[in-house]
Amino acid sequence: MKRMFVLTLALGLSFQSQAQIATATPTKAEMTKIQTKTQPRVIILATGGTIAGAGESATKAAYKAGQVPIDALLNAVPEMHQLAKIEGEQVANIGSQDMNIETWLKLSKRINQIFDNNEADAVVVTHGTDTLEETAYFLSLTIRSNKPVVLVGAMRPSTAMSQDGNRNLLDAVMVASAPQSKNIGTVVVMNELVFAARDVTKTNTTSTATFQSRNFGPLGLIYDGKVNYYYQSTHQPTKKFNVDKLDKLPQVDIVYGYADASPKAIECMIADGAKGLVYAGLGNGNFNAPVGAALEKAAKSGIAVVRSARAGSGRVTLNNEVNDAAMGFAVADDLNPQKARVLLMLSLTGTNDIKVIQDIFFKY
Ligand code: SIN
Repeated sequence: MKRMFVLTLALGLSFQSQAQIATATPTKAEMTKIQTKTQPRVIILATGGTIAGAGESATKAAYKAGQVPIDALLNAVPEMHQLAKIEGEQVANIGSQDMNIETWLKLSKRINQIFDNNEADAVVVTHGTDTLEETAYFLSLTIRSNKPVVLVGAMRPSTAMSQDGNRNLLDAVMVASAPQSKNIGTVVVMNELVFAARDVTKTNTTSTATFQSRNFGPLGLIYDGKVNYYYQSTHQPTKKFNVDKLDKLPQVDIVYGYADASPKAIECMIADGAKGLVYAGLGNGNFNAPVGAALEKAAKSGIAVVRSARAGSGRVTLNNEVNDAAMGFAVADDLNPQKARVLLMLSLTGTNDIKVIQDIFFKY
């Protein structure tokens, strides 16, 4: 039996299957030694959010995000230490409404360093849910390795009755350390679902089922402590953006479309130094005449203008309702405005050519 156990390890089967066999044979000391050797190594980078939030009581809705430090999160979910050898680092402890480019760059550089130095097999990032999708997309575009980077949050603070953070965190560590996640890259795990960083968005202000990929659905489903994947996106960056030497990104602002909108916001953003504008347009990225004229003027003065949509799903199509070629615009395809902003900021670190930018938007 013991020989079989050793052989099983040598074949490199997953820790979960090892653990099942291990209960029948090795001593505790042997097990600890074996686990340390064979468990996947996961580093959890904590940034705050509701998953680290604390409230007055188990039933009141009021709470403050970013209160619980990483050590407390690690102790709150002892089960995850059976899945992986886990270390934690506190990168920030903020509500994600305060997430900023400086912290994105810090996170991205640290994750690239972790994989370059072979410090871990996977990374989990705990994050507030408000801007989680933007951070996830930014990391997916800037992390060079395809090893798992799993972003996770919670809709209920750690002190709430029926809080979702502990379960989500356990699922995130499980996804990060699962053999079938080996080349999954950056994903978001929430509410027993795994989403591509590019596709996921927050769709509801308070529901625990808030995260969805409205166009394409989740990549995988989690059940009974296991993940099953069903599809992979064809949109993968051909080349990741290198942010190693950057301490800021070009300014890109989002202009919101609405009935009877005036071009004033666009003029203010340009005066403030915007190098790019994402237009969260009506329907298929449409605008009224004054807004269209202001956007065209901006594009023709060298500001990169990308049309996206406020609708929440679907694509913005090139040269259909709007003559993008004549007006000098690119379209965001199916990226929502906040994701389009992330991609435009990164694109502008390498080019101002709107045709090249369009190509990036169709591929990444
Ligand atoms: C935040 O984004 O930090 C607050 C909301 C949340 O985490 O759910």
